[in-house]
Amino acid sequence: MAYFTSEFKGVDYFEDIDFHHLEFYVGNAKQSKEFYKKIFGFTEYAYSGPETGVKDKVSYVLKKNNVFFVLTSPLKSNHPISSWLKKHGDGVYDVSFKVKSVRDAFEGCLRRGGILADDFKHINDKNGSFTKASLKSYGDCIHSIINNDDYNSWAPGFILKNKQTPANDTKIDLIDHVVVNVELDKMDFWKDYYEKVFGFFAFVRFDETDISTKYSALKSVVVRSANWKVKLPINEPAEGLKKSQIEEYLDFNEGPGVQHIALLSTNILETIKSLRENGLEFLKLPDTYYELLAKKKIIIKEDIKIIKDLGILIDNDEEGYLLQLFTQPLQDRPTLFIEIIQRRGSKGFGQGNFQSLFESIELEQSRRGNL
Ligand code: FE2
Repeated sequence: MAYFTSEFKGVDYFEDIDFHHLEFYVGNAKQSKEFYKKIFGFTEYAYSGPETGVKDKVSYVLKKNNVFFVLTSPLKSNHPISSWLKKHGDGVYDVSFKVKSVRDAFEGCLRRGGILADDFKHINDKNGSFTKASLKSYGDCIHSIINNDDYNSWAPGFILKNKQTPANDTKIDLIDHVVVNVELDKMDFWKDYYEKVFGFFAFVRFDETDISTKYSALKSVVVRSANWKVKLPINEPAEGLKKSQIEEYLDFNEGPGVQHIALLSTNILETIKSLRENGLEFLKLPDTYYELLAKKKIIIKEDIKIIKDLGILIDNDEEGYLLQLFTQPLQDRPTLFIEIIQRRGSKGFGQGNFQSLFESIELEQSRRGNL
């Protein structure tokens, strides 16, 4: 594993970049939104559809503290989103960023080789000023660049919903990182793309010599923005004795796409307790996990007994430790899943847990007959 210096060597092209939202394309947004509300404690924040003048699709904007998910479904088979769904199944279409100046950010990205998906729009209406543009990214996904700070709604065509108090506070606070799986030999292409077009900086890299079981292997590199707010790990499959978990994803997603979304919790013990009570299924750890963990002698503030009962993973580095846990895939295709993470100083991604995780993922993969 190679940790690069944490000193930023990219270029800070964007003032104050952050995740803005993730847009999912789903087969039935009306039902999907209930899953995210009931399990994760999201509330309905905004809506667009036929009632707001949008005739061909519906979108529900869900909010949990600083996390915004947009769930969109097409209303007819001839809508382009229907083709997207036929190919990929439910998944993430847009990993969007907020920036201070959309025009400057977008024009800069195009000048540096970014590929246009949707041209720059500046809309001024009764709600204020809204700016958005989109760039193509891996597979059939995009990155929108948005500023709606001075817009008194979510976006044009949306209505804000009445404020509702979620049934349970799951302590989920913000999007920590978004991981993509790309095809064999494409990882460095995308690393270079983010470095060149966005000015991001690659800061952790590992390959099949670092993490592999006898079955699966992956290569990974993490790129980040200057302010650390946007972190995008990029995985590609590596050679293994059996089919790699990244290959399984690429087969079922029918191409590259978002593998997992890591949501930062302010209290992971409460988050996992709530999510388990709400019926969410997580990856199971090998029985030996906590015996091996004890040997690492990581000093933690939390009660290890509760950690064990909840099945939470721990990893550490020079700067501190982190607690994390991964859900099972959120849809029938073994593609997208969610990670819950709490950081106690560590800026890592839980590489120390990969070995145990791979064993667990492979067990699930072999149950599906895909190993
Ligand atoms: Fe992660």
